[in-house]
Amino acid sequence: MIPARGSFILEADLLELDGVNAYYGDSHVLHDVSLRLTAGHLLALLGRNGAGKTTCISTIIGFLRARGGRIRFDGHEIQAATPESICRMGIGLVPQGRRVFGSLTVRENMEVAAARQARGRRWSRNDIYAIFPRLLERQNHLARNLSGGEQQMLAIGRALMTAPRMLLLDEPSEGLAPQIVREVGRVLATLKAEMSILLVEQNLGLALSLADDVSLLSTGRIVFSGSTDEFRCRQGQLQGHLGVG
Ligand SMILES: Nc1ncnc2c1ncn2[C@@H]1O[C@H](COP(=O)(O)OP(=O)(O)O)[C@@H](O)[C@H]1O
Ligand SMILES: [Mg+2]
Repeated sequence: MIPARGSFILEADLLELDGVNAYYGDSHVLHDVSLRLTAGHLLALLGRNGAGKTTCISTIIGFLRARGGRIRFDGHEIQAATPESICRMGIGLVPQGRRVFGSLTVRENMEVAAARQARGRRWSRNDIYAIFPRLLERQNHLARNLSGGEQQMLAIGRALMTAPRMLLLDEPSEGLAPQIVREVGRVLATLKAEMSILLVEQNLGLALSLADDVSLLSTGRIVFSGSTDEFRCRQGQLQGHLGVG
């Protein structure tokens, strides 16, 4: 194999889901989901509201147990691991709805995250402030008093503080003004050079501008997986599986 940029090995799969099924009680939500995230790539996971995107993320991070199927990260099977150990292996999560700790300051939110670092690149608070200068201005403010855009920046900064090798982002543009969405897009384009990313998005323009590869979920089943160029070619046929946006 030919070593690619950084420590990535050309075309190696960093994250693999094979035939993953997931349930809420008796409700069968994910049906034999298979996904591949190539090291160094950004994979966009698309689909309408309720398609199962967040469930997929929850299953990867270990909040929800996969019933049947396999999940591998960096060659290790993780489907039986705890969220804590999965995080330490180098998977950072930016959850849907941000979920920052409202009663902690910006700075404290980041310090809490830094206590559980994985083995990826170390990010200091100053590194995060360099990407999001607004967070430096707001560092002593309670997170609940931040705007939606600032909370999103904090959610991303907090995930970076865990030193991830792979970032899972669940609808980072949701509910943000167009100008902030563009800023999030710029930051993701920069982070792409540093780590592998699984991006769940309803904003198709944003997702396709960043993605190397696309997987499309429709009522819990993968209906397309391929390169972004292949996706664009078939977008007309796949339109029915996409939400508006
Ligand atoms: N905690 C839960 N309990 C029961 N059903 C759920 C729960 N969370 C999500 N669902 C259902 O699972 C399906 C997939 O939801 P979700 O993964 O949140 O979709 P998406 O993120 O693509 O919008 C939907 O039908 C949703 O109603
Ligand atoms: Mg969701």
